[in-house]
Amino acid sequence: MPNQHYSPSRLQRALAGVALLLAVAIAGATWFIVNQPRDGTGTGIALVGGPFSLSDHNGQRVTDKTFLGRNLLVVFGFTYCPDVCPTELQVVTAALESLGSRADDIQPLFITIDPQRDTPEIMKQYVANFHPRFVGLTGNLEEIAAVAKAYRVYYAKVDSKSGPNDYLMDHTSIMYLMDKQGKFLKHFSYTTDAAALADGIAGALAP
Ligand code: NI
Repeated sequence: MPNQHYSPSRLQRALAGVALLLAVAIAGATWFIVNQPRDGTGTGIALVGGPFSLSDHNGQRVTDKTFLGRNLLVVFGFTYCPDVCPTELQVVTAALESLGSRADDIQPLFITIDPQRDTPEIMKQYVANFHPRFVGLTGNLEEIAAVAKAYRVYYAKVDSKSGPNDYLMDHTSIMYLMDKQGKFLKHFSYTTDAAALADGIAGALAP
């Protein structure tokens, strides 16, 4: 094409890039909507949770069976998270403290979705900032993928250009309360404050 003022191929590449981004965004949003756990009588409830096999923050192997007989309060995240995760763990800590002895049977778990950086040692240092009963769990990529799938947790690495070890993770930030047999009881949004979380837990565990 003579005398062209722009490169059609470059424009086409740009449009294709936009289309791809849109497709990824729509796929992500759809995945999120389809996989969100539901309150009440929604059919999604029974599907949240299940068997897992991971390493705790002392390097000991644990499974879902390790915690049978306790109510799990499960939070997924990563220790490099700048804001949402630490806020959520502080809220869990404050809620458990305010529940006092009523929270004795609750085992808070922080499961990393960034196992490449979150080693047991890193997890141990991190959870020490929060409730003393917190247990940090990590594993290999397959183990983390399996437990995230069981809890319908979405996560994805957000690439950064500044270095291979310098990245953020997108992830579902929902808190899951499980019964003593490991079955899903209730979930809480990351925007829940400590008082509402404590009330919600107390209500869900009331006989
Ligand atoms: Ni986070």
